[in-house]
Amino acid sequence: MKLPYAEPYRIKMTEEIHQSAPEERAEWIKNSHYNLFNLKSSQVFIDLLTDSGTGAMSDKQWAALMTGDESYAGSRSFEQLYNTVNKLTGFKHLLPTHQGRAAENVLFSVLVKEGNIIPGNSHFDTTKGHIEFRKAHAIDCTIDEAFDINNLYPFKGNIDLNKLEKVYQEYGKEKIPFCLITITCNSSGGQPVSMENIKAVRELSNQYGIPVFFDSARFAENAYFIKKREAAYQDKSIKEIVRELYSYGDGMTMSSKKDGLVNIGGFIALNNDEVFQKASNFTIIYEGFITYGGMAGRDMAALAQGLDEATEFTYLESRISQIEYLGNKLIEYGIPIQRPIGGHAVFIDALTFLPNVPRAEFPAQTLAIELYKEAGIRGVEIGILLADRDPETRENRYPKMELLRLAIPRKTYTNNHMDYIAAALKNVFERKNEITKGYKITWEPDILRHFTVHLTEA
Ligand code: F0G
Repeated sequence: MKLPYAEPYRIKMTEEIHQSAPEERAEWIKNSHYNLFNLKSSQVFIDLLTDSGTGAMSDKQWAALMTGDESYAGSRSFEQLYNTVNKLTGFKHLLPTHQGRAAENVLFSVLVKEGNIIPGNSHFDTTKGHIEFRKAHAIDCTIDEAFDINNLYPFKGNIDLNKLEKVYQEYGKEKIPFCLITITCNSSGGQPVSMENIKAVRELSNQYGIPVFFDSARFAENAYFIKKREAAYQDKSIKEIVRELYSYGDGMTMSSKKDGLVNIGGFIALNNDEVFQKASNFTIIYEGFITYGGMAGRDMAALAQGLDEATEFTYLESRISQIEYLGNKLIEYGIPIQRPIGGHAVFIDALTFLPNVPRAEFPAQTLAIELYKEAGIRGVEIGILLADRDPETRENRYPKMELLRLAIPRKTYTNNHMDYIAAALKNVFERKNEITKGYKITWEPDILRHFTVHLTEA
């Protein structure tokens, strides 16, 4: 018999979490203006809001914390982090930042000017926020297959080369500071980008003289999918795949809170000396001196260890297999989810799940609220609220998909939790026809509204 996967670690410490009563949850979510970001974590039983900074660290990472060097400049922990990043990616410059969006802020302060165009594959919301804040535009060149949740194409994060070339032809290198490849592509469902596609984007970009950067939050999960799904890579190690992947880029931004396996942190890594010099100045203004950039020495030490562990196959296999386990349970229950199952989360198609809720009443948010009320599980809307308003027309943007994301923190929950989540969703699914009303906005901020928006029952 083929042995199944099992976690390549055992659990040494636990943290209590609490169930609550449906009446309590109904009250709490109302008082939170029907925005799950406003809930206290004590009001949540299983927290699937994000896989960002919410995972468990290994004993070696906790041990590394104790070795942290807190020197303001030139700390030993920076050197450790530099050596790890340099070995993994090949990039010669490193600037730590306090998290991923800070890396975007620093890098884009150098590279993005008003009127610029940044093509890519479904930019993440903070990325788009940093682009639009500078009065530039993100153009999504993701392949069309990504927007059909039942299409089993193995690399739905891929960039459509025809769409990309059209953007290159229309705007040219004068207006396009770089192309951004997000690995894995969060906004289109945690879907990977193939090595073949990355290579092709590099070649096309070379023809037009345009640099290529990676938004790398889940780079190790992307490398795992390349190994599993791209024949030429099945015998390569994850670290070899990672090294090759970055050889096609000019640099990267990183949210270390995902595949860095730490609770806070980020960085920029790149090759260009001039961009590094300019970005160093912005790091000093916004983050801190260039050898810590908003991170404690101990956090850099834990991150160096985390990056090494995240790029090990056995870890990635248990990580991705847990997401598959949950996804397959939901498929078994007839619940419409995005397939193939993504890297860090299961994405539920709210338009199919709740056909009676009008699109203007936020079906994915409605489903998130129903799941919370059912079982104290907190997911996040990836739909109209997240897509926000068009910065010029101020009209709601209607994305092609309306999803509820259940992001699974790393090394945190067991498969019993996955069974509980699946059962809760099944219960909501069984009463889906009774859910006919959604929510309406009573207050919203100017940008990134989904974090703080207030809603009421429609
Ligand atoms: N890029 C991607 C692809 C992300 O998923 C995130 C964060 C960021 C950049 C920004 O990084 O949070 O460290 O500032 N994603 C989290 C999520 C918040 O829940 O998906 P950050």
